[in-house]
Amino acid sequence: MNVKLARKKAADVRADLVVLPVLEGKETAGVAKELGADDRRLIEARVRRTDFKGRADKTLSVQAPTGDLLLIGVAEDATAEGWRRLGGRVRKLADGTRAKTVAVCLGSRKSAAGHVLPLVEGFRLAGYSFAKYKSKRDDDARGPRTLTIAGNAVATDRAAKAALGEALAVCDATCLARDLVNETPSVKTPRFLATQARRIVRGTSLTCEVWTEARLEKERMRGILAVSKGSVEPGRLIKITYKPRGKAKGKVAVVGKGITFDSGGLSLKPGKAMETMKLDMSGAAAVLGLMKALAVVKPAVEVTGYIAAAENMPSGTAQKPGDVIEFRNGTTAEVLNTDAEGRLVLADALCLAAESKPDCMIDLATLTGACMVALGTRVAGIMGNDDELADRLIEHGRSAGESLWRLPLVEDYAADIRSKVADIKNIGAPYGGTITAALFLRHFVGEVKWAHLDIAGPAFTDGAGAYQTAGGSGFGVRTLVSYIKSLG
Ligand code: BES
Ligand code: MN
Ligand code: ZN
Repeated sequence: MNVKLARKKAADVRADLVVLPVLEGKETAGVAKELGADDRRLIEARVRRTDFKGRADKTLSVQAPTGDLLLIGVAEDATAEGWRRLGGRVRKLADGTRAKTVAVCLGSRKSAAGHVLPLVEGFRLAGYSFAKYKSKRDDDARGPRTLTIAGNAVATDRAAKAALGEALAVCDATCLARDLVNETPSVKTPRFLATQARRIVRGTSLTCEVWTEARLEKERMRGILAVSKGSVEPGRLIKITYKPRGKAKGKVAVVGKGITFDSGGLSLKPGKAMETMKLDMSGAAAVLGLMKALAVVKPAVEVTGYIAAAENMPSGTAQKPGDVIEFRNGTTAEVLNTDAEGRLVLADALCLAAESKPDCMIDLATLTGACMVALGTRVAGIMGNDDELADRLIEHGRSAGESLWRLPLVEDYAADIRSKVADIKNIGAPYGGTITAALFLRHFVGEVKWAHLDIAGPAFTDGAGAYQTAGGSGFGVRTLVSYIKSLG
């Protein structure tokens, strides 16, 4: 799909669907005033007859001789997320009417340039679909061919042009993450993720390194090895590095949980709970998406993405409840539940990332069902050892439309993961599972500023939400791109 910025008034825009964002109480003012006299009269009559109010998200369709017009309410002080949702709603409506060309008229206000990024994001993300395994193609390759964003300010503003480029990169990255999460678990093995990593770096300034078993042994990556023991699929540690052209303004490490299927291992999950467990590499998918976006967005900071990839399966060779792992940093952990495998593989990757002494370290993991109990499916939990880092990520998450809510690392709960035979154990008490999981991870971050995002809830969606589609959401990509860009 093609996106264009055009210096045009609404009256001069030609498209199958022409969209006019309007304010409540000013439904026929603002950008609607840019229409030709006939269209304006038509709209005025329809607004009067239907009592349409331009409240956020409310829409009114008007069939004009020149094409379909769509009035859509937007708040005067709409946030980036407000515009992203508007873009998503427009796309879902456009798909429904099979419009091939869509134009959104932003009028002549200067602030319009700032709406380009979220608008394009919402529009693109709402049009995502995972059709690889459908035997019949949905209609004639559904969806609009072009989106025109029309207005005085958007076409001349250099920031708007840059925003468009960034939006397209971020959407590609988010859709890549969605594709990887939606891929079937027998296809997307740890080796498959490594192949994807190599593919992503090809033709870019990114570099990538993959550790196979011998190297994992040598480097004492015992968490990945222990979890992989039950599977015929070998584990992998994947590292992707982005370096800016000039001197880097800082160094960030990002770590993703890459359990390509979580059966629970010998602590086997019930069948129902396993249905969506291909999602358990969503953190890894976000890291891969992020790195792909960084190659285009080119921030001034160095970023290394680490992916701890393994398949968690039960078998005669699987790790057993009661086993003890000695991790790379010397910490020993008793594995009492093989279904608490995420923290085991993350321990390896966090140790490794911490050794490179980054300014900060952010991990993303579909770590605990408890986080879904606490925060539901729209909000990720964020924990860590640095208030400033957590606050910044929460802020960037808000404008990116990815909600993060801080949970405390309650020191008293550290006692819950004390083991009788090792330093720590991999399960805590019946309650507070999200926090005890984070406390487990804390043993592996050393002195580095660290934030842990438990994305178990929002990583996978039912498709409700203006720009969500059923399945993988790509959660984390937008927040991280936005945060990393802000560093330089
Ligand atoms: N991958 C799961 C967490 C999960 C559950 C993510 C549901 C998304 C949706 C994780 O590996 C897991 O199984 N966690 C256990 C931990 C427990 C055994 C301490 C859980 O949450 O039940
Ligand atoms: Mn598990
Ligand atoms: Zn898991």
